[in-house]
Order: sequence, then C-alpha cells, then structure tokens
Amino acid sequence: MIQYAVVGDPIAHSKSPQIHQMFAKQTGEAITYLKEQVDEADFDQYVRVFFAQGGGGLNITLPHKEAAFSLAKQTTVQAQLAKAANTLWMNEKAVLCADNTDGAGIVRDLSINNDITLTGKRILMLGAGGAARGALASLIDVNPDRILVLNRTLSRAQLMQQDFESAYQLEVADFDEKPQCSFDVIINATSASISGTVPQIDSGYLSESTCCYDMMYADEPTPFMEWGRSNGAGKVLDGLGMLVEQAAESFSIWRGVRPDTGPVIQALRS
Ligand code: ATR
Repeated sequence: MIQYAVVGDPIAHSKSPQIHQMFAKQTGEAITYLKEQVDEADFDQYVRVFFAQGGGGLNITLPHKEAAFSLAKQTTVQAQLAKAANTLWMNEKAVLCADNTDGAGIVRDLSINNDITLTGKRILMLGAGGAARGALASLIDVNPDRILVLNRTLSRAQLMQQDFESAYQLEVADFDEKPQCSFDVIINATSASISGTVPQIDSGYLSESTCCYDMMYADEPTPFMEWGRSNGAGKVLDGLGMLVEQAAESFSIWRGVRPDTGPVIQALRS
C-alpha cells in the first residue's frame, strides 16, 4: 500500500482522509491516507522524511501551503501565481513537485457540478489572502469578462494585483467601493465566516442572476450564504464541492486516474 497524507495544524477537522479513501475504493487503487498534525518548525523535515520513506504524495493545508511551495523544486503555474501549494509529489527523477489544485477545484465545482458559465462573465472575488490567490490562479484561465477583487485592506489587494499582472489585469478596491454593476458570480474567499461575519460590501453587487459561492462549508449555511439568500441571489453554494474537486485533482496527479466526484460529494452531504 502506498502512503498518502494531509498535513496541517490544526488537522482534526480534515475530511481529506475520508474523501481519498472513497476515491481509492471507487477506482480500485491500493492506498492508505493519514492526517498528520505538524508544527511549522517541523514541516520541512516531515516532508523530507515522508518521501524518503517512499510516501506517494501529500496534501498540504493551513498554515503550511506557502512553505510547501518554497520547498518544491518544480512548481506549476497555478502554484507560482498562488505562491502556495496544496499538493506535493516526487517525480520519476526524485524531484519534489508542487501544484495548487484549489483553483481547478472551484472552477470544476462551479462549471461542471453546478453548470455555471464563467467564460465572459463578471466575477467578484472577496478577499486577497491565500484562498483568493489559489482560486484566481485558475479562474483567470476561463477568460472571464472581468475580475474585481474587493478586500478589507486595499494594499493587500494591490499587492495581489501586481503579482498577477503578467497573467491577468485584476481590478481591485476595498469594501467601501460602490458597485457600477452587478456581478454574475461572487466568491467569498475571506475567512470572515470563521468569525461568523460577512464582508461588508454593498448589496448592489448582487442581482437575481448572481451566484454567491462561499469557499467555506459547514453543516449549516454560512453567514455569506445567508447574506446572498436574503439579498435575492439566484443561487447560493458552499465550498464542499470545491473541497472534493481539489482532492480529485490531487488524486489524478498521484495515481493517474480521475475519480468520479459526484457520489463522494453526495456521501459527504448526507
Ligand atoms: P486564507 O489563507 O484563508 O486566505 P489569509 O491569507 O489570512 O487566509 O487571508 C484572509 C482573508 O480574509 C484576507 O483577505 C482578509 O482580509 P485582510 O487582508 O483585510 O485581513 C479577509 N478577512 C478576514 N476576516 C475578515 C472579516 N471579518 N471581514 C472581511 N474580510 C476578512
């Protein structure tokens, strides 16, 4: 059995072992998948030992995504734009490689699972932290009409704008910015839901055809989903589908086979 694991701190809440075990069963791949709590100081050493002992691949979650990116010797464009990685593996030449599959995860969940067209559409991204960077690294590839990033701290959004400059012209503003038009998709990539709050943006950004997507998920609708619902959004979604899709991308990289995500999303919902 080849060993895989998700590494983070904290890690107890992670659904990744459950998801990858469902993928393994479905595809007949013989793997085991652990969750590992690792301190920041021990992260590099953990990764080295894991692969030296023949480990097949790692998923990386908070707070180690930036460290994972720095450690890798070969990185995808998505990881470079995000400056963060959530998937590590050794290639056939024993070079440590990194990808960031969060962006592919959200694009697939929106477009395939929920039938939402992104090409030519107006996307509003709330937040300019690691989660927003990861998502934008793939959202820019689907050729939206425009992407506006709103962040509580404008300077952080401006920094992200500079980092993405060679790949895409992001528009940026803070939460006080008044809307000139409504947006087709509004994505909440802030961590506001953790503290039970909603980014303070004008409800004029939203219309009855807007999809409000929270990258967070919980058993109950998140505060951002409630905000979307109470302001008349056409569709309101949480990030559970994205979680399963980013995992499926990792699984495909490691095992060369793409699992069917639909039944896994359904199983987690029930
Ligand atoms: P992550 O890796 O989850 O993205 P992060 O890099 O710390 O975490 O970024 C958190 C994001 O959520 C930031 O955009 C942050 O805004 P600031 O840059 O102004 O700090 C945003 N955020 C966190 N709490 C928020 C709140 N209560 N309201 C609005 N935005 C919030």
